[in-house]
Amino acid sequence: MKNLRFGLVAGLALLLYSACSKEPEPGPPLVYDPVPYEIDIPSWFPPMTIPPGNPTTVQGVALGRRLYYDPILHPAGATSCAGCHFQERSFSSGPAILPHVNLGWNRNFLWNGRVQGTLEDIMYFEVTEFFKTDISRLQNHPEYPRLFYEAFGIRQISHELAAKALAQWMRTLISANSPRDQSIWGVPRIFLPDEAIDGAIIFNTERGDCFHCHGGIFFTDNQFHNIGLDAEPAEPGYEAVSGNPADRGKFKTPTLRNIALTAPYMHDGRFKTLEEVIDFYSEGVKKSPNIDPLMKWAHLGGLHLSAKEKSDLLAFLHTLTDSSFIRDPRFKSPF
Ligand code: HEC
Ligand code: HEC
Repeated sequence: MKNLRFGLVAGLALLLYSACSKEPEPGPPLVYDPVPYEIDIPSWFPPMTIPPGNPTTVQGVALGRRLYYDPILHPAGATSCAGCHFQERSFSSGPAILPHVNLGWNRNFLWNGRVQGTLEDIMYFEVTEFFKTDISRLQNHPEYPRLFYEAFGIRQISHELAAKALAQWMRTLISANSPRDQSIWGVPRIFLPDEAIDGAIIFNTERGDCFHCHGGIFFTDNQFHNIGLDAEPAEPGYEAVSGNPADRGKFKTPTLRNIALTAPYMHDGRFKTLEEVIDFYSEGVKKSPNIDPLMKWAHLGGLHLSAKEKSDLLAFLHTLTDSSFIRDPRFKSPF
């Protein structure tokens, strides 16, 4: 009975409203009733800090996903984000294209660290400085005004809102199901081949020393290092951001999760294969005044790994490929 009465009152109010309102809305009324989105964070990952101004919602994530796959963000409609960031390649593709993996925990973005802060900050950079998105294309679209309203309760689309939606979606791109993960946290646990276990020992001890920079659950320290690719780096790297000549040739440590999928390697894509990368750490390190002190074997040109150590390390790197992440239907194009 109460419901019926409420329905009558609400109906009357709606009737009065539509009779008085001078600008009738075309189509169905807009609804803002966002549903919280539970980000699927594995128990062995740290909690993710989400800025209070941009809580994750079902509507926001869906909008961000759609924007990511829609060339409408590009002012000429030439490409979408996914035109370079391919899911099947861990949201990477050609030379230097950084992957989109576990970026919800990341604070330093781009190879030279030009953007620091939250995912909202880097997404704002992407839609303003990189794509220079023309917001009127979204505002005049038959569906986006409704989708933005449903996600944010705001009719006026802006670069900020597009960045917020993209950030919400990017937080969901979590990769945590590689054979390496399954060998430690899987239920049931799987066993890695002996050579990958030997490779893990090289990786995680002073022998290979990889863990100092690529350690931890994210396989990156999210810092900047000059690893001795060149005696005289052609590009300034982090120096361009800090202004400090001591930072010349320092670049962001990339995650090694899904590393077998993201060739070619390094900030300039100079190595085509992981074998070439391992050869570099083994024999190709160039000494320079700026080289990172963690590159302890630089004075000898590298680690000088044996052929077996090299193939063990390679086998270990291959255990970091999460094939469920690259097939996850939640991350595919919604079109
Ligand atoms: C033409 C290819 C291309 C397109 C299209 C593209 N990107 Fe990228 N993206 C790159 C490259 C190359 C880098 C590394 C650039 C650098 O560090 O200077 C990168 C880096 C990034 C990073 C930094 C990742 C990190 O670990 O620091 C994010 C985030 C990102 N892109 C998001 C996007 C979004 C969102 C879009 C769509 C609005 C997009 N990209 C479109 C090529 C592209
Ligand atoms: C001093 C920190 C440091 C150490 C130690 C280190 N790395 Fe790196 N690694 C980096 C940085 C920084 C880059 C990116 C360098 C660039 O592009 O200029 C990188 C790049 C890579 C890449 C290419 C990533 C990509 O997406 O292009 C691989 C693979 C890699 N390292 C594996 C290893 C292995 C294996 C070891 C141990 C033998 C190791 N690293 C030791 C910091 C380090």
